[in-house]
Amino acid sequence: MAENTLTIRDNRTGKEVEFPIQSGTEGPPVVDIEKFYKEFGLFTLDPGFRSTASCKSRITFIDGEAGVLLYRGYPIEQLAEFSHFPEVCYLLLNGELPNEEQYTRFVNTVTNHTMLHEQILNFYKGYRRDAHPMAIMVGVVGALSAFYHDSLDVHDLRHREVSAFRLISKIPTIAAASYKYSIGQPFIYPDNERSYVENFLYMLFSVPSAKFKMSPVLVRAMEQILILHADHEQNASTSTVRLAGSSQANPFAAASAGIGALWGPAHGGANEAVLDMLAEIRSVDRVPEYIMRAKNPQDPFRLMGFGHRVYKNYDPRARILKKAAHEVLAELGRGNDPIFKLALELEKIAQEDDYFVKRKLYPNVDFYSGIIQSAIGIPNNMFTVIFAVARMVGWVSQWKEMIEAGEGIGRPRQLYVGAPSREYLFMSERK
Ligand code: ACO
Repeated sequence: MAENTLTIRDNRTGKEVEFPIQSGTEGPPVVDIEKFYKEFGLFTLDPGFRSTASCKSRITFIDGEAGVLLYRGYPIEQLAEFSHFPEVCYLLLNGELPNEEQYTRFVNTVTNHTMLHEQILNFYKGYRRDAHPMAIMVGVVGALSAFYHDSLDVHDLRHREVSAFRLISKIPTIAAASYKYSIGQPFIYPDNERSYVENFLYMLFSVPSAKFKMSPVLVRAMEQILILHADHEQNASTSTVRLAGSSQANPFAAASAGIGALWGPAHGGANEAVLDMLAEIRSVDRVPEYIMRAKNPQDPFRLMGFGHRVYKNYDPRARILKKAAHEVLAELGRGNDPIFKLALELEKIAQEDDYFVKRKLYPNVDFYSGIIQSAIGIPNNMFTVIFAVARMVGWVSQWKEMIEAGEGIGRPRQLYVGAPSREYLFMSERK
């Protein structure tokens, strides 16, 4: 029996087959079951893909038990402390950190694509003013494919590059316009003299009648939020982008599918829920009551921003954002902000409580990102939009990797448990 194989025996027939075990550079090895059906005439059942690697990837690695997150091998803590968001974009897309010349060229190209086709702005006017900005994002990003016909051929390297730049460059403009539309303010055109992150905040908060000013501390906190959310391996929205893109649909359509998947409260929408929860708890003296509720299996209440499907340790992104939240609130002279104090108290009590310790329920990235964004002045319904702005580069990098690996169309199988084959019933025969 060969080493590095897993032998599976079908007890019905006695047939035994060895399947190769493949090792990655980090993380647990995988059993290659590509030939499983051919050998046994059986599919495997794994709802939600909890035990299934859907692809090989070189982009992001997570060790949930140890609380480790790496982009192209670099620890997230170092990237959040030392790098800029466009640098992280370059890294995710190309696999290496850029040298000075590569970085300058990359930033120039991203900057040159920040404007939207003027006609795209007309789309916004078709939406109700109270539409959720994510609803607008799904529509407008998908509609880019109706404007940029010269970059839709997924088999053409140059087309892939150009559409990657367009998505990364235009997503802040699209996001900011969805916000401006919802509050009835004029759209702000990008200012290419500003950095990627500052320009995004400028398009969100600037008005024609006043001079725009924002503290570098707040700009840096937003930059860290974007860096920390840029990729997270094969999560629901990324898997959606890969699957949609595997049909060779154009990248704008695939990215739009990803935005739809991100929208849900179990994925990108959780930071909105954290702030709602803190507002409901209101004061530190009510924390024990809510901790009791979170522990009661009869009560559907859960501590939002705690626990993670993959991290069974402190989410490394939460640690970075906790520090950033302190800095932002101090900068704004709101060190005694009652919501932030409440959040700290909640975290402290939860981390001392046996229920949370035993279940390895630590604060996740959403716990602090909502507090920071709210302090910057971003309304709750824009939090998931900010997440989409950050994640666009992850989606694009993963989409490019998938196309370039020539994986072919994705097609999961199923265990059919519906009605067996039966004859058509004429209306008169139906009960
Ligand atoms: N509050 C109270 N109890 C919790 C919480 C929580 N936030 N999270 C998990 N538990 C409990 C469960 O009730 C369960 O208890 P039991 O063993 O007695 O039945 C145990 O911990 C394990 O819970 P699971 O649901 O199996 O954990 P899973 O890893 O599947 O869930 C999830 C992860 C969905 C994120 C969950 O922790 C949760 O709902 N958290 C709150 C929502 C949230 O913050 N989501 C954001 C995730 S981060 C992101 O998407 C970017």
